[in-house]
Amino acid sequence: MGLEFRPLQGEFGAEVIGAPRDLRVGDETLHQIEAAWFRRGILVFRDLDMTPADQIAFSRRLGPLHIMVPSEFNHPEHPEVWVVGNAERDGKPLGLRGAGMGFHTDGEDKRVPNAGSFLYARMVPPEGGDTLFADMVAAYAALPDDVKRKIAGRRGRFSRAEMHRINYPDMRPYTPEELAARPDVYHPLVRRHERSGRVSLYIGRWACDIEGLPQDEGSALVRYLQEFAQLERFVYRHRWRDGDAVLWDNRCTQHCATPFDETRYTRLMHRTTLEGSEPIMA
Ligand code: SIN
Repeated sequence: MGLEFRPLQGEFGAEVIGAPRDLRVGDETLHQIEAAWFRRGILVFRDLDMTPADQIAFSRRLGPLHIMVPSEFNHPEHPEVWVVGNAERDGKPLGLRGAGMGFHTDGEDKRVPNAGSFLYARMVPPEGGDTLFADMVAAYAALPDDVKRKIAGRRGRFSRAEMHRINYPDMRPYTPEELAARPDVYHPLVRRHERSGRVSLYIGRWACDIEGLPQDEGSALVRYLQEFAQLERFVYRHRWRDGDAVLWDNRCTQHCATPFDETRYTRLMHRTTLEGSEPIMA
């Protein structure tokens, strides 16, 4: 089957036209999807009708799947599916509320971050609850030359311990055991995609400062890079419809959930997450 990939915003993102609603595709079609995903960073599918098993089967063909930890919001029968949103059953939350607010890439706070994620909208509010995606290839290319020189060959420090209270002010603090399980990690700020070779800025909300730079200077530069990457010209806003799914590449994009009126509306999303590999310095 020939698919069409309709550009979303310049070189960034594409809407996939012509895929079957359950995404049970042959190898040739899968290859087309994967190639477009590497080229464009995010792919939007519309009007899908997938069971959790369909979503898992499709995602697994792109790479091994990651099981989210803690497992509290993993689908009870399909632990590969992580549930996000404010939906409840019998007074109990089905998913994690308020997940993903603030630009980030999945797993950036781990030594081996996640390669990609695939988010499927089962129920979305009529307004709000959009997801923003930033093109980190374009952001890197547009950085001023002196900043490029400053970050060349350098690694950022990504700290769950330090950023938890800032990123999740309403959540309980981590226990000493939890903190010990999530040590700081260092990643190249300029990353080469191991499959496409594309070079991007690698930064997100768990980054604090920069190895080898005085802390003040490093944290100011991290803030600058974060703000730069979020400039409107690099960002695509996805306004969800029921049945949409977005496949994003964590190696060269960032994303950010946005709020909605939780007293009036329900948002229920299923995410599968791909294992990754250690980022390569460009
Ligand atoms: C996420 O960060 O994976 C969740 C994004 C969203 O729910 O919009």
